[in-house]
Amino acid sequence: MPELAWVNGKLSGLAEAVVPCLDRGNLFGDGVYEVVRVYAGRPFAQERHLRRLKKSLAAVQIEAPLETRELDLQVRDLITRSGIGEAQVYIQITRGAAPRQHAFPRDARPSLILFVLKVETDFRWRETGCQAISLPDDRWAHCHIKSLNLLPNVLAKEKARSKGAQEALFVAGGGAKVREGSSSNVFALLDGKVVTPPADGHILAGITREIFLELAETAGLPVLEQDLSLAELLEAQEVFFTSTVSEYLPVSELDGKRIGTGHPGPKGQELYALYSQLCQTGDGS
Ligand code: PDD
Repeated sequence: MPELAWVNGKLSGLAEAVVPCLDRGNLFGDGVYEVVRVYAGRPFAQERHLRRLKKSLAAVQIEAPLETRELDLQVRDLITRSGIGEAQVYIQITRGAAPRQHAFPRDARPSLILFVLKVETDFRWRETGCQAISLPDDRWAHCHIKSLNLLPNVLAKEKARSKGAQEALFVAGGGAKVREGSSSNVFALLDGKVVTPPADGHILAGITREIFLELAETAGLPVLEQDLSLAELLEAQEVFFTSTVSEYLPVSELDGKRIGTGHPGPKGQELYALYSQLCQTGDGS
């Protein structure tokens, strides 16, 4: 079951894959990416991920090196070749390799990197609930673009880790507006309603978020996409994060304060059960 990479048409083992040092992804973070989960050898919600990738590319004016249909087939081919059933696929497109100058190069060809990895996420927090810390959102104003510029997210996650927490929550306006986790979206259960901050450019419009919202509606739970303050979150019955990799991550403690009962709450668990079922039985389109 080899972890494989496909870099600009060249197939290799992941450890052998190389990217030119002049690649602008390397030099400037000048590119965008997606992470797709694979369940039982099938990519989940790939159509949605490729649609978002197309939007990210358009937002940073990078031309897609492959048509969506071809990219879809290429990803499926790599998954099949790897033979890994429970995997993550990483898809990265950059503006390509060119002499280092900030302005767009005239004739660089966008580069495409794909790789398939085994899933090695620590899922024990899903059973117990995780600890999270809040911190000021010091990122740029275009967080809807899934860009390679993840340094603030990396620093936030490391800050969480250094404090014994598992996720960091970006909050703007001195606590007035909760945004999202360092690599996840956030939900709260407030007065029986499922509430999540709006996808207005300050957060990534997560695919898992989108599917959780659809599942909540189908399950007849009241759903609201609206601004949430940190104070509201601290008083919520439940708080949880969602992402492609972690899927559902309930929060038992935020900034040292117990959330709800201090255990994963029933509504989040109900939604996660529906999500899991979909991952096993559907393609998430
Ligand atoms: N990150 N917000 C941020 C900042 C993220 O990086 C992610 C996911 C999400 C959740 O999006 P989705 O549900 O589409 O995975 C929200 C991926 C998984 C990563 O960088 O590994």
